Amino acid sequence: MTYWFTDAAVKDRLPLSGASAIRGMSISFSMPRLFMGPNALSEVRGGGANVFETVGLKCAQRRAFVVTDEHAGRYANRVCAAMQRRRFTTEVWDKAQPEAPLENVRECAEAMSKFGPDAIVALGGGSVIDGAKAAWILYERPDITDLATVPPLRPFGLREKAVFVAIPTTSGTGSDCTAVAVVSDTEAKRKIPIVNGDLLPDFAILVPDLVSGMPPHLTAGTGLDALAHSMDCVTSPMTNDFTDAMALRAIQMIFKYLPRAYHDGADHEARLRMHIAASMAGVAFGNGGVALTHSMGHSLGKLFAIHHGIAVGILIPYAFQYYSTVTDKYLDICDALNIRGDTDEERFAGLIEKVRALFTELDVPLTLKGLGISEKDFEDNIDKLALYSVEDPSAFQSPRSATQEQCEKLFRYAYEGKDVDF
Ligand SMILES: [Fe+2]
Repeated sequence: MTYWFTDAAVKDRLPLSGASAIRGMSISFSMPRLFMGPNALSEVRGGGANVFETVGLKCAQRRAFVVTDEHAGRYANRVCAAMQRRRFTTEVWDKAQPEAPLENVRECAEAMSKFGPDAIVALGGGSVIDGAKAAWILYERPDITDLATVPPLRPFGLREKAVFVAIPTTSGTGSDCTAVAVVSDTEAKRKIPIVNGDLLPDFAILVPDLVSGMPPHLTAGTGLDALAHSMDCVTSPMTNDFTDAMALRAIQMIFKYLPRAYHDGADHEARLRMHIAASMAGVAFGNGGVALTHSMGHSLGKLFAIHHGIAVGILIPYAFQYYSTVTDKYLDICDALNIRGDTDEERFAGLIEKVRALFTELDVPLTLKGLGISEKDFEDNIDKLALYSVEDPSAFQSPRSATQEQCEKLFRYAYEGKDVDF
């Protein structure tokens, strides 16, 4: 199978189009219209626009197709009732599968096309939202038959048929605020990131009690995903003042509220603030990019069936040690977290220590070996791990590029838990 991100011309152009030296001449900053808070779905409000009345202004037919899965489906009635109060006709499709396999996306698109919605509502975690976005492409553009080859820089021309509403039920992916959909090629055991400005949801609705049922391990995993998004974004060459503001604030909130949400899922303040932090991190990296935590984390997650957030989170210290030879932007994160020291090196060491202390508090291992990957499995897959990391488009946004050999070395250091010294 061919992929858009292995095309040499695209690989050449993407880093150039993202470089701040070029983007600085004309920057755009995009995010969905957001509604957030415990009453965001209810009729009881302190003021401001009603969510679905606002959505309805964009929908002549008011036909809503709700994409969800067996976990988040329990909230579908509540969402449909809120829409029906605003004269929407609704249909629920609750067959979304984890990691949005391509065949599942096609099945969703067929059901969507039969119903003919002018609003697509994705209700669920990252896989549900990403799968719904990919199905939205096929619904609007039935001429596109291969999602793996669609290029990132040419608009799809979406919204001829429907607007997109994201209601996340986990706090981490940020997919409700990004123009990215990661789907899975099950046969090739690969993740395919579809990147296109058109994929940015029109509306995002953040309701904290939709995440209150998340078990601790999922709270930790999704929270570390948001941490990887925001930390990677700060050091990305595509960053700007708007993305920095979002990412640095998200980092502060994650360090403060993630341990609370992990230890006490009923801590409503922690749940709401983590939910908001995850979307802020999404806005940040949706505009400013992520790098090696995600290029290497995608490869690690897919080859060893590791939760995305854990796979990308565990790589943060190694990626940052690797970046630290070419950028001191990590000092902004040290400032945000009040990490002091006499030298930049001391402050950097303090940052890595703080990240590792967070992992320990969340019962997340510090090494790949600690994830239970056997040495044999690791060695059998090391070539693919490194190759897929280099090909992943997140790698194009790294402050320090990494060859396949360097990625392999980074994985070996992460496996053993060695500090990166090259
Ligand atoms: Fe992520």
